[in-house]
Amino acid sequence: MRMLDLVQRRRREGKETIMLCAGQPVTGAPDVVLEEAEIALRSSPLGYTEVLGDRELRERIADWHSARYEVETTADNVIVTTGSSGAFVAAFLAVLDHGDTVALSSPGYPAYRNILGALGANIVDLVCDDTTRFQPTAQMLEELPDKPKAVIVTSPGNPTGTIIDPEELERIAKWCDDNGAVLISDEDYHGMSFSRPTATARAYSDNAVTIGTLSKYFSMTGWRVGWMIVPDHLVDPVENLQASLTLSAPAISQVAGRAAFTLEAEAELDQHVAAYEEARAVLVEELPRIGLGTFAEPDGGLYMWVHVGEHTQNSEAWALELVEEIGVAVAPGVDFDPHHGHEWVRFSLCATAADTREACRRLGEYLKG
Ligand SMILES: Cc1ncc(COP(=O)(O)O)c(C=O)c1O
Repeated sequence: MRMLDLVQRRRREGKETIMLCAGQPVTGAPDVVLEEAEIALRSSPLGYTEVLGDRELRERIADWHSARYEVETTADNVIVTTGSSGAFVAAFLAVLDHGDTVALSSPGYPAYRNILGALGANIVDLVCDDTTRFQPTAQMLEELPDKPKAVIVTSPGNPTGTIIDPEELERIAKWCDDNGAVLISDEDYHGMSFSRPTATARAYSDNAVTIGTLSKYFSMTGWRVGWMIVPDHLVDPVENLQASLTLSAPAISQVAGRAAFTLEAEAELDQHVAAYEEARAVLVEELPRIGLGTFAEPDGGLYMWVHVGEHTQNSEAWALELVEEIGVAVAPGVDFDPHHGHEWVRFSLCATAADTREACRRLGEYLKG
């Protein structure tokens, strides 16, 4: 957030800055969603929806999920939330008691850790590196001294963009079932895959909690709609929690969001993914040329995790320096990895290929000194 403030300040001062630190698409919602939003604005009172979410949207999500992964997901198990952020809070509250242990990967998305800390959970890091493409494995869970109550996986990952192979996800799901742990699978970046297939945890365990969002592939970040797909026994507890926590996700976003699951929207959204893939190709080609050849090659998602340890042991100071000196904003690794993040930064794939190339050129000049 400090980086974003800095970028905004520079822009106000008329200093041009290439944003490779964004954690969201720079594109807007699909046209077909905008059209539905215009209609809904005039034709509906837009009050609270059902606590579990607009039934038609839940059906669209269930159909999309079932068709995509060849699983049987029914709308009864889909709960619409205020962004997937709302789903995490509800899932943690529904599944965990104070002091329970949760295993999660490092590097990883910082909000899990922050929310769990606030809820009094005990966090166990699954420290990941390039030997497992920065993703956790069932073997790592097996080696934990104490069994966790829940395990969080994120594929494609933030900040790494790497995807857990379906076979490994199956092993993790089986380990969780065999050891009484709830698998919470963050599938927010599904739809954004360049090379490997993405699998849903629901294909391997009926007990898994699967989380998704309109924020990433669907390019609707500020509309604040996410969802969770939960086993039958969690529907009522989550409904009770939501009734007090949020009442409902924004009605207009839910009603218009139904259209995000159409072929028309998909055609538009797939073009964004093609653009991310172009930016990724630029980074994969250019970074080794400028001496930043150690990185996690993203299989999907929006990011690339790049090692900068030859240049700094303080990724935060280094990232702030880059903005001031060359007008390139990247996200410091310390936000994502308490162990090794001081030597890593996260590049975003959201800039155009041309801007990404220009950022690499400036970085190359800067590193030459
Ligand atoms: C891995 C991951 N999960 C969840 C979220 C939260 O997204 P939202 O609340 O917009 O659905 C993000 C946002 O960047 C993320 O990267």
